[in-house]
Amino acid sequence: MTRPLIHFSSARNWLNDPNGLIFHDGRYHLYFQYNPHGVDHGFMSWGHASSADLVTWQEHPVALRYTDEHEIFSGSVVFDERDTSGLGIGGTAPLVAVFTLAARSGAHQSQGIASSADGGLSWSMHSGNPVLDRGSADFRDPKVFRYSGPAGDYWVMVAVEAVQRKVVLYRSDDLRHWELLSEYGPRGTAFGVWECPDLFPLALDGDPDDVRWVLIVSMNPGGVAGGSGTMYVVGSFDGVRFVPAAPAPEVEPGAKTPDDALAALDWIDHGRDCYAGVTFSGLGDEDRILIAWMSNWEYAGEMPTDAIEPQRGSMTLARRLSLVTERGRIRLRQEPIGPAVVPVAAIADVEVRPGEPLTFEAPPASRIRLRLRLDDGASAELRLGDAPALAAVLRVRDGELTLDRRVGAEGLPEAFGSLERLELRADGLDAVLWLDEGSIEVFADDGTAVLTDRIPARRSDRVELHAVGGRVRIDEVTVEAEEEDRA
Ligand code: FRU
Repeated sequence: MTRPLIHFSSARNWLNDPNGLIFHDGRYHLYFQYNPHGVDHGFMSWGHASSADLVTWQEHPVALRYTDEHEIFSGSVVFDERDTSGLGIGGTAPLVAVFTLAARSGAHQSQGIASSADGGLSWSMHSGNPVLDRGSADFRDPKVFRYSGPAGDYWVMVAVEAVQRKVVLYRSDDLRHWELLSEYGPRGTAFGVWECPDLFPLALDGDPDDVRWVLIVSMNPGGVAGGSGTMYVVGSFDGVRFVPAAPAPEVEPGAKTPDDALAALDWIDHGRDCYAGVTFSGLGDEDRILIAWMSNWEYAGEMPTDAIEPQRGSMTLARRLSLVTERGRIRLRQEPIGPAVVPVAAIADVEVRPGEPLTFEAPPASRIRLRLRLDDGASAELRLGDAPALAAVLRVRDGELTLDRRVGAEGLPEAFGSLERLELRADGLDAVLWLDEGSIEVFADDGTAVLTDRIPARRSDRVELHAVGGRVRIDEVTVEAEEEDRA
């Protein structure tokens, strides 16, 4: 597959989860699960890239390397401004990485730390590792943040007991000694493992006096679209315990989660390729930005790679998060952070009739703003690519958007062929689409309904908008392309 143009991917080799997201000294750092030796998951280490704008990334040498004993699984980075860890050097406060040491022989996962005195480029392993060991085979993905509130001022770690489907919360004063605060789960799901949790405050509807806490948990399998997916739960955190605002939908233990119970959970994304997303540290609470891995464990390891420049995996666009009340329910809203764009086409106030599609071009990396209204019983179809070699088809009907990527899935892993569903606020469509080589991100209803999918390569820029079973009224179709595309 061709490397994406506007999403981060490493120049070579395998990547999965984003790790250690931190904004520090004017740059965004993205570490990531990385195999320095090839295109399969293995020898897990932390790759590293940084960016001034979350769009253009510069890749750096491997930051944390596997050893004979351990692979380095997912985790986070914090700026230890007061040098609480004592790992600072010569008066420089350190960055501290907290990650999972996954034993290479035997099943054992514990948490270790490393420090950096040069802004995250080079790292020293702490000699006292592991710093937290429960004697567990599946204790991983520590996300650390600074809690400061009525209960005190200390570091909090959220991690998972993956197989038990539990989030475990710990506290520390020095990032080296950890004490159990509480546990959360299992709840809402009855199968798969829980991975890559995150916990952060967000103001509801922009009101600084009404701050809620959001817990993110990635689940695999068990995602709403099949395979890997990420749910979120809104509640409160008092420095000790996370308490959800509403009871979870009941799911019988051991039962395969029924679709309606899954639908009752809140999902970050309704597509198949948004997993292990976590947020940046080092930004203010009003600036909460998430990046996720744009793949799915159901087929990630089987995706085709380029013979000359073998590389596998990429990240989603960065998304700024907020919390809004929408139809009586609190929802996470995501605002994509994409590259600067220039206009390519603008269509407004046009009616599309059955059999008379509207055709336009969307360059490889482009943003399409769509506002459509439908006749009763009509559906709108957005066909990406040239028929019959379509890459994917989006359909909008009766307050639902579906994305069908089966149409072009030939030659891709069997589990890849799928159809995703996204419930919309109303009939018609009001959405922003980001297209890139091999992916689409749909941000509908002001970013409260999101769907991310890898899609087969588009063999042309052509997009057709069809009306089926009635007319489609185009209030707006605006196409913009990444500036560089035009050159
Ligand atoms: C999530 C995950 C994490 C783990 C990492 C290993 O995708 O399974 O739980 O730390 O990937 O690469």
